Amino acid sequence: MKTPVIAISGTPGTGKTAVARLLARRLGANLITVPYLMRKKQLRYGYDRKRRTKVIDEREFARAVKRNIGTGRTNIVESHLSHLVKADFVFVLRTNPDALEKRLKRRNWPAAKIRENVEAEMLDEITIEALENNKNVYEIDTSKLGAPATARLIGQILNNFHHGKKYRPGDIDWTGHAKRYLTR
Ligand SMILES: Nc1ncnc2c1ncn2[C@@H]1O[C@H](COP(=O)(O)OP(=O)(O)O)[C@@H](O)[C@H]1O
Ligand SMILES: [Mg+2]
Repeated sequence: MKTPVIAISGTPGTGKTAVARLLARRLGANLITVPYLMRKKQLRYGYDRKRRTKVIDEREFARAVKRNIGTGRTNIVESHLSHLVKADFVFVLRTNPDALEKRLKRRNWPAAKIRENVEAEMLDEITIEALENNKNVYEIDTSKLGAPATARLIGQILNNFHHGKKYRPGDIDWTGHAKRYLTR
């Protein structure tokens, strides 16, 4: 039997790892993450010197994910590239730029890398890419919602307990933050 593939995506810092772990436990799902694929030696890191950041190849990632999708239970793919994989449901986690910047500052990343990610979040980059690649896309604002509440909400949307319509892309708009962020 075909089991669903659920992608959890979002800009770094929006809560993917925390939420996907809780959701996998809730659903008894098979959890596919980047570190997992690395451990299995099905994915390698490259390094972008200019941006001083580790990178993964999208196609290699998609191929590795495919190999790990099982048929016995629900599959959860967690990565900032997971929305590029063919999925039955894509949840893009969103965080307002102020809260996101605070979370990323705790990572001791170079300032340029933090800025790049906050800007990507402001421009809805992942949501736009998700909509280009998948039909069933939802957005959840984790700025004020903790990881457990987010995992619970995703479970409820999957169950049709909540009308998913409310979480269709379109309502989240960080442009009010953009002016403040870009002019300072
Ligand atoms: N829904 C949430 N609300 C508030 N803070 C969160 C939430 N999810 C995760 N966090 C916190 O934000 C930080 C980034 O979470 P993480 O799961 O590592 O994000 P990602 O995997 O998307 O980079 C962590 O410190 C985590 O504890
Ligand atoms: Mg993570």
